[in-house]
Amino acid sequence: MAHRFSGKTVLVTGSAGGLGRAHALAFAGEGAHLILADINEAGLAESQALIEAGGGTAAIHRVDMGQEAEIQAFAATILSAHDRLDVLINNAGLHAGEIARGFFGLGMAKWQHFFAVNTFGPLLLAEALRPALARAKGVIINKCSMASYNPATAYGITKASLTVFTHAMAQQFGVDDIRCVGIAPGLMETEAAMQGVDPANWERLKAMQSVKRQGTAADISNLALFLASEEGSFVNGQVILCDGGNQMRGFRF
Ligand SMILES: NC(=O)c1ccc[n+]([C@@H]2O[C@H](COP(=O)([O-])OP(=O)(O)OC[C@H]3O[C@@H](n4cnc5c(N)ncnc54)[C@H](O)[C@@H]3O)[C@@H](O)[C@H]2O)c1
Repeated sequence: MAHRFSGKTVLVTGSAGGLGRAHALAFAGEGAHLILADINEAGLAESQALIEAGGGTAAIHRVDMGQEAEIQAFAATILSAHDRLDVLINNAGLHAGEIARGFFGLGMAKWQHFFAVNTFGPLLLAEALRPALARAKGVIINKCSMASYNPATAYGITKASLTVFTHAMAQQFGVDDIRCVGIAPGLMETEAAMQGVDPANWERLKAMQSVKRQGTAADISNLALFLASEEGSFVNGQVILCDGGNQMRGFRF
């Protein structure tokens, strides 16, 4: 079977596990070379081993997406090794703990940290990698969230802002024939997401969906494959909600 991404290079942030690892494995399965970035080095090594066990190739880099100097140094390393970058998936994100509990009483330092990782980091990385993305006529995929449609938490606010960046980035990067799209997952069955919701609440949330199953990492990684592919190449500037119809029925945590 032909591989849709043979000869292409795909960079995924937050790829030490969860949705990021699913993206990495899906693109590797389609023949791409992977660049994996995360703060979790052990998880990165596991992702790399899984890709190599499947016959793929992956390089790993420890990068804190909340630190501008680290983003710039990482981008410089990538640009010196790769002429072209076909796909950038800005997947790394903070989503658990205080960021998901509301938005009062956080103070400036926490707000700055949440926005740095979830909103500004993705923009700065894309900006720094622009020359390689332009040579490939590449695509940027920002990982937004269903939570941005009812942003009653700092998390939702940072992701709603990333949605706005996605619209703006599509216009600005489009000058170089680079597309920018977003994926807003509903509540997907990743380990991290399940830790944040108690079992009774999972059942309530599942019951709110129009389709009677829980979303999986594969639902999101398949959507990313489509958006990055030739078949998806006229989709630009949009954030695609992938939530089984949950939002339509009034999703509330
Ligand atoms: N799973 C869901 O239901 C869901 C729903 C909507 C949106 N999302 C978004 O999808 C993305 C992945 O979610 P997930 O469920 O796989 O969670 P996850 O916690 O498994 O993955 C997030 C990854 O980001 C990494 N990360 C955190 N801070 C970082 C930093 N400063 N620098 C670099 N890496 C950092 C973590 O180490 C982790 O590997 C996140 O942006 C999340 O907000 C997830």
